[in-house]
Amino acid sequence: MKRALEISAPYKYLAKPNPMVGALITKEGLILAEGAHEKFGGAHAEVNCFNALDDEIDDSHVMICTLEPCNHYGKTPPCTERIIDSGIKKIVIGSLDPNPKVAGKGIKKLQAAGIEVKHGVLANEVKELNKFFFFKHENKRAYVTIKIASSSDWKSHNKDGSSTWITCENSRKDVQLVRAEHDVILTGGNTVRNDQPRMNARVSFPINQPKKVLLSAQKDWDRSLDFFKNSEVKVLDEKNLFKVIEKLSDEDLNSVLVEAGPKLVQGFLENGLCDQLIVYQSPDKLGENGVSWFEGGRAIDKYGLSLKSSFTIDRDKKSVFEK
Ligand SMILES: NC(=O)c1ccc[n+]([C@@H]2O[C@H](COP(=O)([O-])OP(=O)(O)OC[C@H]3O[C@@H](n4cnc5c(N)ncnc54)[C@H](OP(=O)(O)O)[C@@H]3O)[C@@H](O)[C@H]2O)c1
Repeated sequence: MKRALEISAPYKYLAKPNPMVGALITKEGLILAEGAHEKFGGAHAEVNCFNALDDEIDDSHVMICTLEPCNHYGKTPPCTERIIDSGIKKIVIGSLDPNPKVAGKGIKKLQAAGIEVKHGVLANEVKELNKFFFFKHENKRAYVTIKIASSSDWKSHNKDGSSTWITCENSRKDVQLVRAEHDVILTGGNTVRNDQPRMNARVSFPINQPKKVLLSAQKDWDRSLDFFKNSEVKVLDEKNLFKVIEKLSDEDLNSVLVEAGPKLVQGFLENGLCDQLIVYQSPDKLGENGVSWFEGGRAIDKYGLSLKSSFTIDRDKKSVFEK
């Protein structure tokens, strides 16, 4: 199971919003074939694993799979059918699939076909690796991360609209990785009007680019702006942030990264819609000309968030707070 987890992990940025899944076929303790879910919309791990096998299946072959095989028609046919058709007699599964379309049904179908099923092997590790996927199904809404860049005096930007980079180049590079992990990047009208950001994930490896969501009542957006390039963009005129997250969760998206100014960030925090807050903080002050991120000093504690990790990136500090 450790090996199956290991071969699934490199596809983190390409498989999303699907989970990372790895599968093996073994015989008498030897691994004969391996397969992973390499790409969103592509073949599932079990199918890739069967395709990599040269042996004829007999009673001594065992399939090992990190996640319960699917039993429904999605972008590909159900894996349970392929497993049953293969004639394999035993399967070891890491975790049950939390997706209600699958949960327990895959295992039942395999058992009904006379296959011996063992499950719960390294289930916590499978869950941890696929944190956003499990969160979404267990909490019935997407995981929300808020990312802010702040001055040392907790300011977001200049009141007079003059532009300034708050954090250093390596902090901004780190943000690209955070973007790449998420399924959606969400921002507000003022941020796009004032900063004209690109807000795509600029990393040096292939990824399934996050979709972009712009919350705004403005109808006549100039679609030639950089923000509207590089991935699918949705403009939503919806003030109720619960409805926004509900809508995105219904679209099979597991994680939302909010990268906005203080108004929208405050809205998500006040509504308890923040599972993780990432702060990149510079040692410089913005002073009187700066717009505050939070009203009052100890705002982060107020929202039930506590510090999970903190480290330096050149002259900045990156802190991660979680619920
Ligand atoms: N330091 C950082 O990390 C960082 C990151 C992003 C932005 N910023 C700065 O923040 C400034 C803008 O901040 P901001 O707080 O005025 O604007 P914002 O984050 O862009 O959000 C406010 C806008 O979002 C839209 N909106 C839709 N639903 C909303 C809701 N429920 N609550 C609040 N807004 C909603 C509205 O757009 P419409 O008016 O179009 O309807 C509203 O004007 C930018 O100039 C930028 O420099 C800083």
